Amino acid sequence: MEQYADPRDAFDLAPGTVHLNHGSFGAVPRVAAARQDEIAREQRCSFHRFYDRVLFPLQERARVEVADWLGVDRDGFVFSTNATTAMTTALGCLDLRPGDQVLTTNVEYPSTYANLRRACSESGAELVVVEVDGLDDAAVLDRMTGAVGPATAVVVVSWVTSPWSTTLPVRELHDALSASRAVLVVDAAHVPGLLAVDLAELATAFVCLTLHKWACFPQGTGGLSVPATHRDRARPLVDAVFADSPVMTERFAWSGTDDRSGFLVAGEVLQVHRRADQLGWTRAAEAVADHARQRLGDVWPEAVPVSDPRVRRMLTWRLPQVGESGLKTFLRDQEVWTWLGEVGGETHLRLSAAWYNTVDDVERLVDLLGRFRTTR
Ligand SMILES: Cc1ncc(COP(=O)(O)O)c(C=O)c1O
Repeated sequence: MEQYADPRDAFDLAPGTVHLNHGSFGAVPRVAAARQDEIAREQRCSFHRFYDRVLFPLQERARVEVADWLGVDRDGFVFSTNATTAMTTALGCLDLRPGDQVLTTNVEYPSTYANLRRACSESGAELVVVEVDGLDDAAVLDRMTGAVGPATAVVVVSWVTSPWSTTLPVRELHDALSASRAVLVVDAAHVPGLLAVDLAELATAFVCLTLHKWACFPQGTGGLSVPATHRDRARPLVDAVFADSPVMTERFAWSGTDDRSGFLVAGEVLQVHRRADQLGWTRAAEAVADHARQRLGDVWPEAVPVSDPRVRRMLTWRLPQVGESGLKTFLRDQEVWTWLGEVGGETHLRLSAAWYNTVDDVERLVDLLGRFRTTR
C-alpha cells in the first residue's frame, strides 16, 4: 500500500470542492476505490466465473474482518446495503403483534420514523415517541426506562443522533432493558470509525451500521449485528438461493444478482484505518474540528452549539433566525458541502471533520458564512 503521509493524498476528492460532510456521505480511500474498480472489471468480464470462484470466499473474508474490526460476534454479523436497510431488516425479525408497543425517541433519523410507522401499521403495534432532546444521559435513561412497560416489545434509539451530533446512553439502556421483554435496536450509523466504543457491550441488541460514512467504505455498504436470541429466525429482506440455510450468515450472503464490490474492499479500507492510527490522522482531524468550533463562534456569535463534545469530529449548530435555503444555495454554489437543514422550524448546520479536512477547509466555510451573514 502507498504510504500516504498526507491524508489528502489518500482520497480522491473532486478538485475545488470543500467536503465537510463526511457524516452524511463519507469519501473512499484511493486504494479501496482502485481495488473496487478492479473487482468491477472482473465482474463485468465474467460474472459467472466471479460468482463461482471469487465472490463468496472474498465476501466471507471481508465479513469476518469487518466483524472483528467492529468488535462484534462474527456469527451474528451480516452485511447490509446501509443502516436504513439494516433497520428494516432488524424490525422484520421482531414478530411485532397488535398490542405491542414500539418505543423510540424524538431525536431519531427521519428514515427510522418511516421504518417504524410502517412496521407498526403492518403489525398493529403502537408507536410511542419519548421526548428526550436537551436532557442529560441520566434524565434520558430515566425517561426511557420510565416509559417501558409490559407491552414494550422494542426500543429503538440512535447512538449518535442526526443532525444534532448528540449521543444517547445506549449502553446503560441496553443493561436496563435486560430485565424486560423489550429488544433494543440501536441506530449506530455514525459509530464505526467515529466513536471509540466497544460494540460487544451491546450483545443482546440489534445494531444497525453504515460503513460508507466514518468507516470510509464505498457507498452502498453497511451491516447488522444480530443478537444470539434472534439468529435462528433472522432473514434478509429478500430471500434467495440460500434462504433455507440453517446458518444465519449464509442466508444473508446473497439476495439475488447484485454488485457486492463495496464490501470486498474491506482489507484495503481497514489497512487505511491502521495507517491512520499510526500517523495520528484522527487526532489531526479532531484539531480541525476544534478549530471549527472556535471559528464558527467568532463569525456567527448567535450560533448555538448543540453537539455533544464526545462526538469530537461532528459538530452541529442551531442558527437562529436564518432561513435554510438561502444559505444552503450560497454554500453549495461555492462547492462548500456541509449538512444544512431545518429541524423543529430552525436551521441547523453540521460540519464533519474527516481525516482529509484541513484548517483551510474550515476557513473557507467561515469566510462564506461571514459574507452571507453581513449581506443578508
Ligand atoms: C443517525 C442516522 N441513521 C441512519 C442514517 C441512514 O444511513 P444510510 O444512508 O446508510 O442508510 C443516517 C444517515 O445520515 C443517520 O445520520
